Amino acid sequence: MGARFPFPSFPRGWFVIGFPEDVAPGQVKTFHYFGQDIVLFRTESGVLAAVDKVCPHLGAHLGGGHVKGECLRCPFHDWGFRSDGVVVDVPYAPKIPPKAAVRTWHVREQNGVILAWYCPKGQAPTYEIPVLDEDGWTGNKTVRWVVRSHPQEVAENTVDCSHLGPVHHVGRTDVLSVEQEGHFMRVVLHMEASGAPIDMPDEFNDVQLDVKLHGIGQIVSQTTVLTSEMRTRQRIYPTPIDEDTIAIFGVSNIRQMPDEGYTREIEDIFYKAFLADFPKDFPIWENKAYLDKPMLAGGDGPIGRYRRWCRQFYDYPEAAAQPAAGPAPAAQPITAIAKLKGWLRARSQAPAANSNGSDDNSNNNDAGLDAHLIDLGPRKPRPVAATSKFASVGDYFDSLERRFNPSAAGDLQAVIQWVLTGDKACAYFAEIKDGSVQSVAGTHPAPTITIEMSADDYLLMINGELNGARAFSTGRGRLRGPVRLAMKMQRLFPLDAAV
Ligand code: FES
Ligand SMILES: [Fe+2]
Repeated sequence: MGARFPFPSFPRGWFVIGFPEDVAPGQVKTFHYFGQDIVLFRTESGVLAAVDKVCPHLGAHLGGGHVKGECLRCPFHDWGFRSDGVVVDVPYAPKIPPKAAVRTWHVREQNGVILAWYCPKGQAPTYEIPVLDEDGWTGNKTVRWVVRSHPQEVAENTVDCSHLGPVHHVGRTDVLSVEQEGHFMRVVLHMEASGAPIDMPDEFNDVQLDVKLHGIGQIVSQTTVLTSEMRTRQRIYPTPIDEDTIAIFGVSNIRQMPDEGYTREIEDIFYKAFLADFPKDFPIWENKAYLDKPMLAGGDGPIGRYRRWCRQFYDYPEAAAQPAAGPAPAAQPITAIAKLKGWLRARSQAPAANSNGSDDNSNNNDAGLDAHLIDLGPRKPRPVAATSKFASVGDYFDSLERRFNPSAAGDLQAVIQWVLTGDKACAYFAEIKDGSVQSVAGTHPAPTITIEMSADDYLLMINGELNGARAFSTGRGRLRGPVRLAMKMQRLFPLDAAV
């Protein structure tokens, strides 16, 4: 490898090299990864194949060829290669030379990505990437970046807990569990995440992050916002382009919610937040050094354990093959949800009792670098929920104009419509225009946003006894119109200014 990274080769494993739509039936494309050209083609019937660039006949670059039927034809003398690399046609020769074939790459197409197996010794895959369940999840929203870094640095980010505050503005983070088994690694974290990246300032959310690594090339991060029951899944695939540069493929999905329109809005909000938040690491990755012997401190997360796990993906000379800090610890089974529940319970009963945030310390006994998993110090005070400020929803609407905050509205022009159902059914709308508001009983012919909910639930929500995001994500309420405007409601009509 280059001088920047002290690894003997690119890491072995499955790496994403594209999206299926990059290579249509009948197309040939040349991709450059692992410091070399890889020629991908898709036969007319749709079979995807990847081959080395050099034609075994007289060395032409096969990326200049074309697909005919089920074969890739070389641009030089028109030899025909099947998707398994075997030459099945030499148009001018009476006999095909025995063993004529080009080397193929192992490729897989699953969950909307193309994976290629890389091994510096050319050996066959030693593991497979499990297919993710797509039922109940939105379709893939994808992105790709090019960054001057190494795939191991990207995956290391998932266990580097102490960067989450400075770079991603996450509050307190606790490692709930770490599991390693062969090529698989899983880390479950709990964090207090600000709602700011999704335009919900001043809101702290209990978030569980379940990160699964299948080799260094696939990171699946499932986020559950416990406060609102929203679930998102981000996949990160770092792939070496050459010794200094990587491609990062990103795929984002969210768990479908009962309301399709609301799901689409939230999907868009989370995707945009992903696009804005993830690249915050890039300038650091591009300019940092990789330190083989970092000076770690308590609270850094299981970085040493991660690095020992990574060694299996390289072929180190024998003498250096043993991890410096002794053998890797045995895999520790985890029951993340149970641990999280226990942790939340413990926190609500005795917040300061266990700063590690785990209901047992079994993951905390690793000698050396990981002696202390997490202790980020005292927790920030949580925002206090409103307490029974409104005796009825009528009080809420009566005080709406008085509570209006023109500076939060800015130049907003909007009509907010409430349609509340049940025994205390009522309808109100508020027209915000030129920095002022007028609230009226009844329905507006063309509201910007409509909030539908039972009057009883709405009362619970405005009194802080029902989480608004949870109400809408579970179908207890319904929003029509821009969710971002609904998220602004508390700033437009602060509850503190009530009665
Ligand atoms: S170089 Fe490819 S067919 Fe001759
Ligand atoms: Fe990061």
